Amino acid sequence: MNPSLSSRLQSVLARAGQIVAFTGAGISAESGVPTFRGADGIWKKMRPEELASMNGFLANPALVWEWYQHRRTIIHTVRPNAGHEALVAMEALFGRVTVVTQNIDNLHRRAGSSSVIELHGNIERNYCLGCGEQYGGETVPLANRIPTCPRCGGLIRPDVVWFGEMLPEDAWEEAVRACGSADLLISVGTSGVVYPAASLPVAAKHAGAFLLEVNPEPTSLTPLADEYLCGPAGSILPLLVDQIRRLRTGALHEH
Ligand code: OAD
Repeated sequence: MNPSLSSRLQSVLARAGQIVAFTGAGISAESGVPTFRGADGIWKKMRPEELASMNGFLANPALVWEWYQHRRTIIHTVRPNAGHEALVAMEALFGRVTVVTQNIDNLHRRAGSSSVIELHGNIERNYCLGCGEQYGGETVPLANRIPTCPRCGGLIRPDVVWFGEMLPEDAWEEAVRACGSADLLISVGTSGVVYPAASLPVAAKHAGAFLLEVNPEPTSLTPLADEYLCGPAGSILPLLVDQIRRLRTGALHEH
């Protein structure tokens, strides 16, 4: 597979200063982390209102904890893949790539991306509903399946965004700023249907960014994309990095 890049994209890549990678579950699929939608998606088998909402948590905290511990176990046994690594390589080439992710799996940080904005939280963190005390994934007191806060006795919950909840304000504001000033926004592995996150690539495009999409399936963002590279992130992003390298050394201009 060899994505042939339009001359417009080549010229954007040659001079882009501000690059944002907007990522979703698809970038972690090749690591072995399941996506949410599609034939084998999590939401095909599980009910988000039971597992990913405050009402669901309060109704059955043990079930929600069991599910998050199961997902933690998966995340701890997998590794960042060539897609995550390509974004790190891109950062080395451009000086900075801001990763705005909907993923909670921590794989961008583990891969080595240095500027990661997490819109939906991080599964490695937890906090107490009573007093707000933060607990790491390893320190959460799990003795009785429903962890409670040693300080105040409150229920501890994963520090992730559930349906019906606001996005963390700082992360959202940072993401809006980064997308508003991007020259190039690369949307990778997201169906682009969950708001407000999905409004970011649209806003970036309206503010003048070139919108490049990488996904094996067309999505709701595809009609808006300036260029769509069809295929898995673990193959397409490394090829993109190769092309950027060649562009920046002038090799592509010589032909
Ligand atoms: P989805 O499961 O909705 O979409 C995953 C996307 O990844 C689809 O468009 C797939 O075609 C694509 N995909 C699959 N394999 C891929 C690969 N190897 N390389 C690149 N793309 C691939 O996941 P998200 O868009 O991330 O929210 O979902 C958004 C939010 O919905 C999640 O953050 C989560 C969920 O409910 C919360 O939990 C708040």
